[in-house]
Amino acid sequence: MTSTPPPELTVGQVAARSGVAVSALHFYEQKGLISSRRTSGNQRRYPRETLRRIAVIRVAQRVGIPLRVVKEAFATLPDGRTPDRDDWAHLSAAWCDELDTRIDQLARLRNHLADCIGCGCLSLDRCLLRNRDDRLGARGSGPRRLFTRAVRAEEDEHRDPGTTRS
Ligand code: FES
Repeated sequence: MTSTPPPELTVGQVAARSGVAVSALHFYEQKGLISSRRTSGNQRRYPRETLRRIAVIRVAQRVGIPLRVVKEAFATLPDGRTPDRDDWAHLSAAWCDELDTRIDQLARLRNHLADCIGCGCLSLDRCLLRNRDDRLGARGSGPRRLFTRAVRAEEDEHRDPGTTRS
């Protein structure tokens, strides 16, 4: 005979099942990403669907979606409910552009780790070809050659004739 899972979980049960430390659960709660009720003994009790919320938070974090964005997405759900299948499709579609940008940046990072990334260090002989005199620094901070497609397109416009992209 199988027993019915309890509808509410203690913080320890949530931590054990979700793989998230109790301190992180408190942090999520403090940030308004999850919520609990208090028992008469002032102990937290989480609705079981909190596990799904935490799963979404963890997946989003793993792919680099900021908690602020996750919270904004949760806030769009009616009655603050936990994302169901349709909700998840809606949320993930909204994150597609952001994910595409991150995938693009990661692919560029992987492909150009040994090449000049336009960070201003000028430490590689390739920097002379890719970022002579740190001219990419005039277009903004950070590794300019790893940033968005728009930056990449802009860079194409200003590339020295005769140089090729690796
Ligand atoms: S790698 Fe830093 S400017 Fe080229």
